[in-house]
Amino acid sequence: MSPVLNVGVVGTGIFAKDRHLPSYQEMPENFKVVAAFNRTKSKATEFAKLAGLPDSKVYDNIEEILNDKDVDYIDALLPVQFNVDTVKKAIAANKPIILEKPIAANMKQAREMVKLAESTPLPIGIGENWLYLNCIDEAKRHLERIGPIVAFTHNSTGPFVSNNKYLATAWRQNPEHIGGFLSDGGVHQLALVTDLVGEFESVSALTSQVRKESGTDDIAFATVKIRNSNIIGTFTYGSAFGASEKSVWLKIYGVNGSIIVDVSNKNEPVVKVRVGSFAETASEEEVHKVPFDESFGVNAEFLNFYEAVAKKDKTLLKSTPKVVFHHLACVAAFLESSSKSGDHVKVETL
Ligand SMILES: NC(=O)c1ccc[n+]([C@@H]2O[C@H](COP(=O)([O-])OP(=O)(O)OC[C@H]3O[C@@H](n4cnc5c(N)ncnc54)[C@H](OP(=O)(O)O)[C@@H]3O)[C@@H](O)[C@H]2O)c1
Repeated sequence: MSPVLNVGVVGTGIFAKDRHLPSYQEMPENFKVVAAFNRTKSKATEFAKLAGLPDSKVYDNIEEILNDKDVDYIDALLPVQFNVDTVKKAIAANKPIILEKPIAANMKQAREMVKLAESTPLPIGIGENWLYLNCIDEAKRHLERIGPIVAFTHNSTGPFVSNNKYLATAWRQNPEHIGGFLSDGGVHQLALVTDLVGEFESVSALTSQVRKESGTDDIAFATVKIRNSNIIGTFTYGSAFGASEKSVWLKIYGVNGSIIVDVSNKNEPVVKVRVGSFAETASEEEVHKVPFDESFGVNAEFLNFYEAVAKKDKTLLKSTPKVVFHHLACVAAFLESSSKSGDHVKVETL
């Protein structure tokens, strides 16, 4: 029988309470939350009540939770400028760790994170749950049918939500992470797009700040060339607009058809396919519904991390620092290009 892994949660804020804990509780055959630490202890105590933890498992500092022999791995949900230091401490304590996205606050730290992950046999995961969306698997089933990909367009836009609880966090309003919301949210869309279309080689982008509450630029419009290919495309991102429908989709154009991956409605993601080389031979649009996943990839992400930890094999991990480095590198390239009035710039590689 597979073991139940004991999880120590570091940073018991909104996402820990609203998503990570419910996901662990939905999979009791794999996971048990056994300890918690948070800078403000009252929030860890509140989290402990929900998780059914005794007071003795609510710690006063990160060292105590790292040294708890009952803890098999650490799940850290902190402002991402703390990711590198937290990983260093986890490696020193010989504990695997999964950290929330983006990989780090800037490219220097992102590079350091990749090196740290390479320096240890311990699984080091970055929680990029969009890499685990069912709609990606569904779209991949049809990619060959549309022939060689030649272009794509991605749109993730929506109205500004003024009472958004995530926006209210001080570290988002005064971001130390590059691009603020462009990296906080944008790495998700970049995971979806690059997993299906390929890595971005170079970009020409303009970014701008629409809302003062965002703390920095909050919209990006880019044209893109895909690495080692002739594929070109566009990437549009921003939830800082006035009234507008929430619209999140990727359209992939091939020489023999097209695919739309539409996640505008998280409860009903859909993959639409048209096949045919010409207007005259085009098939009817096929609509492939994707199974509803309330966790939006988080459960699958945890199960992937479970495999790597239980089998002590970090090569089983999908969302490694090496893979997700690229997503932050794209945001960095958007910002660099915009600072040069939209000049085409290379996306940093490892
Ligand atoms: N994958 C997703 O879809 C998704 C969605 C939301 C969030 N996230 C990620 O989850 C993480 C947490 O985000 P959140 O929305 O839950 O924010 P949050 O509620 O503000 O949680 C952040 C936690 O970090 C702690 N913290 C802040 N500054 C600290 C410091 N200087 N030293 C130690 N601890 C500190 C906070 O402690 P205090 O209680 O003392 O402030 C809080 O518990 C972030 O990395 C975010 O990117 C991911």
